[in-house]
Amino acid sequence: MAVVPIESLPASGPDRERECCRVLEEGNILVFAETPFAISPVDRAFLLERRQADAGYHKNIAYRPKSDRVTGVARQHPDDARRLREVLGRYSRTVVDFAAGLFTGYSRRWKVDYASFRPQEEASRKLSSHSRNDLLHVDAFPTRPTRGDRIFRIFTNVNPAAPRLWKTGETFPELAERFAVSSGLLERASKQTVGRSLLKAASAAGLPVRSRPPYDEFMLAFHNFLKENGEYQESARAERPVFPPDATWMVFTDMVTHAVLQGQFALEQTFIIGRETLTVPDRAPIAVLERLAGHAMA
Ligand code: SIN
Ligand code: FE
Repeated sequence: MAVVPIESLPASGPDRERECCRVLEEGNILVFAETPFAISPVDRAFLLERRQADAGYHKNIAYRPKSDRVTGVARQHPDDARRLREVLGRYSRTVVDFAAGLFTGYSRRWKVDYASFRPQEEASRKLSSHSRNDLLHVDAFPTRPTRGDRIFRIFTNVNPAAPRLWKTGETFPELAERFAVSSGLLERASKQTVGRSLLKAASAAGLPVRSRPPYDEFMLAFHNFLKENGEYQESARAERPVFPPDATWMVFTDMVTHAVLQGQFALEQTFIIGRETLTVPDRAPIAVLERLAGHAMA
């Protein structure tokens, strides 16, 4: 894993996009020392006034672009929720526009997922072990299976004074090589269990149940496995990237193991990138798992 400054890549032309995609898909973080899109001073000031210390707040504040809704704001703050919806909506549209200019290939098929705002100091958060972000992990969504498509995230540190500190470890192909088979998780996820067949049948019959493909079953179990594995957490080869005030960074978070150690006030937009639009499809987690399993996973 390397933190690659955008200035080190071609400044324009088709090589720029291809190199950005290659760097990201190979498991590196692409960083802009200065955020390359505008967030107005008024919106910034509003965000920096939000403190999520009160009870009733969730892990993060999420914004859903499709329905223009915000979740994770305590009910006792209806005015906050309304303003947050406007501010996060503007942020989301701005990042999506910017990213569509840089990643024309991805943008043809991507799904614009949630944006989020992270107003709590990460160094002192108390969360359950599966929600903890200070333990190395790859991302997987419990409620939104990707079926082999990729989780791509753009973060911005809106804190004017303090950096955001991450820890990053091995990339997915290395970890899968080491743990996917030996942990038994690949076999378990691949098994067409009675449970899953029933779910599938129910889903086909139009009942509102969700059946998770083997790929998503594995990724979710792997996320938990890594966080629960104390020996791995202690022995992992890790780097400590520092993202200064006003930096923006991009990363496939299903590829790069990561954890956040310190920092407050980050914005983030998630994209689900279609498998067929990748530049280096062989490195994708689904390709790695299908090679190890010897069969299709989604
Ligand atoms: C995460 O995706 O694990 C959290 C990253 C962050 O909030 O900086
Ligand atoms: Fe994560």
